[in-house]
Amino acid sequence: MKNKFLATLLFACSMGTLSAQTPVYLDDSQPVEARVKDALSRMTLEEKVALCHAQSKFSSAGVPRLGIPELWMSDGPHGVRAEINWNDWGYANWTNDSITAFPALTCLAATWNPEMSARYGKAIGEEARYREKDVLLGPGVNIYRTPMNGRNFEYMGEDPYLASIMCVPYIQELQKNGVAACVKHYALNNQELWRGHIDVNLSDRALYEIYLPAFKAAVEQGGAWSIMGSYNKIRGQHACHNDLILNKILKGDWKFDGCVITDWGGAHDTYEAAVNGLDIEMGSYTNGLTSESAFTYNDYYLAHPYLAMLKEGKVPMSTIEDKASRILRLIFRTAMNRQKPYGAVCTDEHYAAAREIGNEGIVLLKNTPVVKKGAPLLPIDAAKYQNILVVGDNAVRLLNQGGGSSELKVKDMVSPLDGLRAVYGDKVQYAKGYAAGRPMYGRADEVPQTVVDSLRAEAVEMAKKADLVVLVGGLNKNHFQDCEGGDRLQYGLPFGQNELIEALQGVNKNLVLVLLSGNAVEMPWVAKVPAIVQGWYLGSMGGKSLADVLSGAVNPSGKLPFSFPAKLADCGANAFDALSYPGDSIKQVYKEDVLVGYRWHDTKKIPALFSFGHGLSYTTFAYGKPVASAKTMTTDEMLTVTIPVKNAGSVAGKEIIQLYVGDEKCSVLRPAKELKHFTKIALEPGEEKTVTFTLTPDDLKFYDETASAWTLEPGKFKIYIGASSTDIRGMVPFELK
Ligand code: GLC
Repeated sequence: MKNKFLATLLFACSMGTLSAQTPVYLDDSQPVEARVKDALSRMTLEEKVALCHAQSKFSSAGVPRLGIPELWMSDGPHGVRAEINWNDWGYANWTNDSITAFPALTCLAATWNPEMSARYGKAIGEEARYREKDVLLGPGVNIYRTPMNGRNFEYMGEDPYLASIMCVPYIQELQKNGVAACVKHYALNNQELWRGHIDVNLSDRALYEIYLPAFKAAVEQGGAWSIMGSYNKIRGQHACHNDLILNKILKGDWKFDGCVITDWGGAHDTYEAAVNGLDIEMGSYTNGLTSESAFTYNDYYLAHPYLAMLKEGKVPMSTIEDKASRILRLIFRTAMNRQKPYGAVCTDEHYAAAREIGNEGIVLLKNTPVVKKGAPLLPIDAAKYQNILVVGDNAVRLLNQGGGSSELKVKDMVSPLDGLRAVYGDKVQYAKGYAAGRPMYGRADEVPQTVVDSLRAEAVEMAKKADLVVLVGGLNKNHFQDCEGGDRLQYGLPFGQNELIEALQGVNKNLVLVLLSGNAVEMPWVAKVPAIVQGWYLGSMGGKSLADVLSGAVNPSGKLPFSFPAKLADCGANAFDALSYPGDSIKQVYKEDVLVGYRWHDTKKIPALFSFGHGLSYTTFAYGKPVASAKTMTTDEMLTVTIPVKNAGSVAGKEIIQLYVGDEKCSVLRPAKELKHFTKIALEPGEEKTVTFTLTPDDLKFYDETASAWTLEPGKFKIYIGASSTDIRGMVPFELK
């Protein structure tokens, strides 16, 4: 009897029916792929399809029957957005969701410092984790193609190499918290006007050389666990279910093992979504009659319509196996990852990160003495002034509000006026100077001319009595400014600021202009204004960062991640007809091709007002002669270049040394020079360091459209070492054999 019982017991165990151990999919000690396979084997077709679409505004389903949790997502790239209602875009008005607002990603890019990117990702990841989010909808790495794009402030500039280097540490550190990055908006969402449907057409070279590299780096180096499909079309097919960019490039060439998530409302067709690589559909307005209706989420394209097509054999079962596997993998990496830390919000470390990213991102554009042989106005020496007048709506405006999905509800927000008062005390007076109306969506809030005139008159009167005037202006997060869902209506400063600048400078030559914006602006008054600072949207500690730099407590070290064209027509995207920008409302053609930003200014010899990579310091840096390890290079060798750099001034500072490569002669048109390496070094007064760059054959390749491959073409090249894309301090020729 005993043996029979033992035999039965052993048989039952071997069949797992009486398994003492945890099921594989719930067992953390098992490899993720085994857990995915096991979970899939236990799920019904209905349960697999349910994973593929939203169940609320910002969540997608898990598998309740198996104890597999839901996925919770949240904006945004600059901080964790306040809780949104279950079923609509309204705020839930919780009392525990105030967080840290970090500087906008243009500011992070302007630091040119990957360490700042790592600190950013760690801090925002801890805040997202604490808020129990599984997916953070950022960072954005679309390329700054035109200063008219309303969303450039969320991205990392005009150069694919800078954006590639600067997004990777953010993603890596964010994901160490068990929170997935969702890199966006893939791809070619380079304007907001008609973003939901504009059909972007461009050459393969522009696609591969300019618009894809940052996404490629995010996937291959950053290891991003999810990516967000963009609203627009690409060559006739919606990006959220686009065979070329999702199946062939992302999941094929780049071997992406994560999830493709739509932008909210980016899905438009069940069959295409099924076969063209979409994994999770969010935010769809499926019934076409109303948005956010009471309709259940089962009306989504990847819900019941997809289930029906699977059952009728109209789409292969392999599509749902692939989608469900990717979504389960994302769940195991996040919601079911028990190794993840607990996170935290509004810590001293997070505020320090926000402040120091701001400090390293602020760009000193101009700082010339007002009178010959006089001292420049910056840094502001308190002892020299008794009456400092701060002017401008942006000196007090809560710039965390507005702008679209990246808007934030903060626990603390130090304004520029507060920051300057903390340093200069009651020497500081304030005049609003201009008014900007409320951050709204869909239309601009008009300011009556009487208000414009009276605010300006008041500021001018006060400026007459001041020793120094600091105007904090720029753009803001209102619609048609730096805001999602619309593009700018003018390249010049809004709200009558140009007239205000002229009027202030007319009564007081000691004028410091601080621009808070995520975009370049036209500067008709540039010759008259002695000091100009590009200040970005700096987040919770913005006022402290600005005061740190204006007071000289911190020596500015930021450099521009995008060019400032003198006038809009000087920008490549805007140099052609409407089809190039903004398109004809249906179709668009990127006519500047690979000549984006400084690539256009250099190659067409149309100098920008302030160049890509430009940024001054309170000290000066002397560059020695660059020396290359050889005069020739074969296609399987590398070349090193060394440059001595010295701090020739009297204050410590940081310098960003940039290496550009120019192909002297090529079978295709190539930009005059392209950024291929950079480094940021700190130097004490008088200190000299030697910087070494290693050039590889990959740095010399261009995308060959006939071969559909990255190609090396032997010939003569030039290495340019620059303090900016136009401030070239040394050049070394070499030949590729
Ligand atoms: C918005 C934005 C996207 C955001 C999403 C959710 O339309 O385009 O960046 O993450 O919808 O708010």
